[in-house]
Amino acid sequence: MQEEISFRNEALANKVNAVIDNYRMVADYNSRAAVVDDVIADIKRVNKAIATGAGVMQNNSAFVGWVNHFLLFGWLVIGAMDVGLGIVQGKNTPDSGYLALGTFLAVLSLFKSNGSEFASMFEVYLTIATTYPALWRMVNFMNLVSDSKKRQKVTDFRVHKTMALLEEAKIERPDAMFPMDTVPLMFEKLCFSYDNGNGGAQFEAFDATIAQGKTVSITGESGSGKATFTKIVGLVLPPGSGDFFVPSHLRVLHVSAEVCMWPGTLAENIFFGLCAFKGLMTDQYKSLSPEELERGWRICKLLQFTEDMQHEAEDLESTTEVDQLPLSLSQKKMIHLARALIVNPEVLVIHHPTLFLPKDMVKVIARVLKAFVNQKGLAMDPATRHLRRPRTLFYCTVNEYMARCADIRICLGPQAM
Ligand SMILES: Nc1ncnc2c1ncn2[C@@H]1O[C@H](COP(=O)(O)OP(=O)(O)OP(=O)(O)O)[C@@H](O)[C@H]1O
Ligand SMILES: [Mg+2]
Repeated sequence: MQEEISFRNEALANKVNAVIDNYRMVADYNSRAAVVDDVIADIKRVNKAIATGAGVMQNNSAFVGWVNHFLLFGWLVIGAMDVGLGIVQGKNTPDSGYLALGTFLAVLSLFKSNGSEFASMFEVYLTIATTYPALWRMVNFMNLVSDSKKRQKVTDFRVHKTMALLEEAKIERPDAMFPMDTVPLMFEKLCFSYDNGNGGAQFEAFDATIAQGKTVSITGESGSGKATFTKIVGLVLPPGSGDFFVPSHLRVLHVSAEVCMWPGTLAENIFFGLCAFKGLMTDQYKSLSPEELERGWRICKLLQFTEDMQHEAEDLESTTEVDQLPLSLSQKKMIHLARALIVNPEVLVIHHPTLFLPKDMVKVIARVLKAFVNQKGLAMDPATRHLRRPRTLFYCTVNEYMARCADIRICLGPQAM
């Protein structure tokens, strides 16, 4: 029985670690809900093992480890949902019960680095029958002033402005089949600075109007603010002041520079985002339609997956996890990009799509990204292209070739001010 508990416990701990390591990906693909279900299923298995092993509850050292993982997980997922809920509902006063994003992330890293030191603190909770109220109390306890009001304002602003601009577009372009496609993305006196007193990234009154369907590269010297700017475009960071406007009917997907690998099969990895957007669990890719699967595999081929990778991606019965496959960093980067392209958002925002890749791969990615914009989504029916929304692409890069591939180049630094 002890063996069963440690086995389940370990499986849960591994998943919790994976969620933490892939936090950016879980957040970017809005897959928190699916990940919650997934981990809760694991927690139930641990619970069952503990319940059947009567007396084990007395064994503090075994139980503390489990509570520790659960609290860590809860902080990550339930805390993150709480942050999200606070943002949506615009409740961010210190006593509103909603958690500040900054606090949430800071505490998360504390948990991660000091897990064992927290163990004694968690013992207090051993007497609590279910862990959930404890979690809730901790989430509320840690609550401080947050930036959620600002985010709520950004969301409201997007919706209202889109409605106003759409009305204008209908009048100005009565012949346009899809007037909403003519509403541009806009930077209006965008300012941002990290509030750390030593300057940091600074944009002052950045103005630009970008038509949908364009490719934009973001370049500049080291420390010029490429990553910061890209995060604002990807709606990860709210602007300091001024506005960045994306029409509200467009889905924005933010993709990190660092490769994220979910502990699952190669197929689970490439279909991770699509499953999340469809409300499926990460391992339910088999229930995607044959057309969706086929389209995903065609995108892998466009990205020149090796024969072995392609085979693995198409083998829905495989149980081999990606970390057991002999994958190079470039090959992992291709999986990372395939995942995003399969999701097919209207606005795709990528940090350094070709960083560390050899020249031949840079060319492949440049070609695929160009096709994504030109064809309004990859591996789709050409007959329906004129009915699809335009695709807009932003990426920051230090690769001169990639910088030149774009229709519009935003160069950050003193000259941009
Ligand atoms: N979280 C943060 N808090 C405070 N300052 C930050 C933070 N992130 C970045 N900065 C500062 O903002 C400036 C711009 O950073 P950013 O990462 O956006 O630049 P970058 O152009 O991507 O740089 P690099 O090419 O070196 O990756 C730097 O001076 C950096 O020190
Ligand atoms: Mg950078």
